[in-house]
Amino acid sequence: MIVPVILCGGSGTRLWPQSRQAYPKQFLSLTSENSMFQETLLRLDGVEHAEPIIVCNAQHRFIVSEQLRQMDLQAGAIVLEPLARNTAPAISLAAQKALELHDDPVLLVLAADHLISDLEPFFLAIDRAKTLADSGFMVTFGITPQKPETGYGYIYAGNRIDDHSFKIDSFKEKPDYATACEYVDSGDYFWNSGMFMFKASVFRQQLADFAPVIAASADLAFKNSESDSHFIHVDETAFAACPDESVDNAVMELTEQGAIIPLDAGWSDVGSWDALWEALDKDENSNVVKGEAITLDTKGCYISSERSLIATAGLENLVIVESDDSILVAHKDSAQSVKAIVKTLDSQG
Ligand code: GDD
Ligand code: MG
Repeated sequence: MIVPVILCGGSGTRLWPQSRQAYPKQFLSLTSENSMFQETLLRLDGVEHAEPIIVCNAQHRFIVSEQLRQMDLQAGAIVLEPLARNTAPAISLAAQKALELHDDPVLLVLAADHLISDLEPFFLAIDRAKTLADSGFMVTFGITPQKPETGYGYIYAGNRIDDHSFKIDSFKEKPDYATACEYVDSGDYFWNSGMFMFKASVFRQQLADFAPVIAASADLAFKNSESDSHFIHVDETAFAACPDESVDNAVMELTEQGAIIPLDAGWSDVGSWDALWEALDKDENSNVVKGEAITLDTKGCYISSERSLIATAGLENLVIVESDDSILVAHKDSAQSVKAIVKTLDSQG
């Protein structure tokens, strides 16, 4: 049995000012009329699976249940984190819930911020990954890199397992720019797509081996959780003791049971404004325009307005995003700096 685990507790700060702490990007309709979280669930139509387990921040529980209701979708459980501790603890909570509901299922761990335009190869890859996961592998899906992106994990594929998969030789989460350039130039690396498949028991064993403090704290937080309807409120004191660590750092870089399946399915992580511009359909001047705008002699821009008319002239490669109370104007090449803007705002209270 496949149990999808949807991770949607991230903060999406690089998509400020639309993505906000109270309503982060995964719950926004950025790539279609549905939110990215809803798209992630709808995409599962082509996979035989049990009801998904959703792990999110407690603050967002009503957004999650409302967005499920809109799509007429059911969750097996909605696990609520009292505070964000990154993806390793989040998956650990989901694995425990899955083991309560099923007999050692295979977890299909999905981020809620991905775009996948070609679903058939995605379904085929999941099918193949299920077979590998059943035999004890921790499987990830590898994307051929297009540029030295420093926001991704890089995987060096080792020996072949079968016609469609390799052992993971090494895994480097978020290398610096120079290292990312080396990896891309070598042609030997894949991007880690951030989607995983493994048996719940295998994940728990590997986490206990490589990150025992996370494993123990998440176990206790789950054991002491309280349920009301399908919400599971995880115990705050125990969960706060979890180190803040991603699954990539805590397990995938260290495991000897890693496997990679190359995936060519029009995948992208919609993490920043330039990535969103790249992923969306553009007009004849390569602009993406949302809301009301007049664009004269304007090329390669992402322009989005919620309330005002935006008029531009003589611009190239800019991001202009107007929201209720803020306006972002940035060069597309500086799209990663939005995170630093949000940090500055936070420090100003
Ligand atoms: N429940 C929960 N709790 N979910 C979280 C948390 C948390 O504390 N932190 C992040 N998430 C969710 C995000 O909402 C997103 O859906 C997913 O987990 C991945 O987190 P990101 O923060 O978007 O990770 P990333 O993009 O920096 O890196 C990961 O994905 C890349 C590809 O998109 C890594 O797996 C990289 O190796 C990979 O290349
Ligand atoms: Mg991401």
